[in-house]
Amino acid sequence: MKKVFSAMRPTGKLHLGHLLGALKNWVSLQKEYQCIFAVADWHALMSEYENSGELRANGVEMAIDWMACGIDPEKSILYRQSDVAGHLELQMFLSCLTPLGWLERNPTYKEQLREITTRDLQTYAFLGYPVLQAADILLYKADAVPIGEDQLPHLELCREIARRFNSIYERQVFTDCKAILTATPRLLGTDNRKMSKSYGNTINLSDNAKDVEKKVVSMITDPKRVRMADPGHPEECNVYSYYKVFASQEAPGCYEWCSRALKGCVECKRNLAGHINQTLAPIREKRAGLEKDKAKVAGILEEGAVKAAKIAAQTLAEVREAVF
Ligand code: TRP
Ligand code: SF4
Repeated sequence: MKKVFSAMRPTGKLHLGHLLGALKNWVSLQKEYQCIFAVADWHALMSEYENSGELRANGVEMAIDWMACGIDPEKSILYRQSDVAGHLELQMFLSCLTPLGWLERNPTYKEQLREITTRDLQTYAFLGYPVLQAADILLYKADAVPIGEDQLPHLELCREIARRFNSIYERQVFTDCKAILTATPRLLGTDNRKMSKSYGNTINLSDNAKDVEKKVVSMITDPKRVRMADPGHPEECNVYSYYKVFASQEAPGCYEWCSRALKGCVECKRNLAGHINQTLAPIREKRAGLEKDKAKVAGILEEGAVKAAKIAAQTLAEVREAVF
């Protein structure tokens, strides 16, 4: 079976954006690939080094979210990145041959330095973020990597680093890996900005039905629709784009009642909340079961690390053989 590798940083609760942008895709990839999914705690530490106390617990919570959504530890390897030492060893081999300019030019890096002002990211490790990410992928010789578009520059760097390794040591140790981009459109947060924990505009997989309803009812709607008798413009309303994702069979109906001013926005949103809750109900139920047995989840991550380390050891043996 071909291999898929992906990872998420355990920086907080997972939300609908993660479900649609990544997890749904991960779940279906399990059918065709040997999947390896890592809790990228080293990557999280690069920005949360002053706030590291929650990373371990967050990692378990994230694994619970994954499994609640259908990531199956019987099929896939789930583990914590820092439990497999090989990531750092391969990172060193790759760091030695990665030109500084490749990292300094990385658009994602430049953007994050500009945008993230609450932490000091002018560190040695953070510049090397994509080198560790390349090590993650290459350690398992992954054939494909499901990622968001924002991660494409990192995958491109991974390929360049792999080619440079093969060329310097004159061995085809690494092969090219391809990106698997998710087709689903991006969901905005409840305030029409990008859905992100730092904006406080997320609907979380762990939210209960009441919280979801409250958040949905607070969503920003078509600003031109002031009174209920005013016809709305569904194409300009974030609520309508949620209908297309969570209640696609009702989206034409929504278009109709909105543009003809047949229903008010509150009713429209309450109805949407019901659909989102329907989607989340089975996840919530599974989540609650797993929450009761966190020790088991921690155990699954540990077993995953043992399996991952076996694959990693093979790659590292080849790498050492090629280099030393
Ligand atoms: N950088 C990724 C993100 O923030 C997480 C990540 C770490 C990753 N290592 C990876 C993704 C390897 C894909 C492959 O989303
Ligand atoms: Fe948005 Fe629904 Fe109100 Fe139309 S009726 S503006 S789709 S919330």
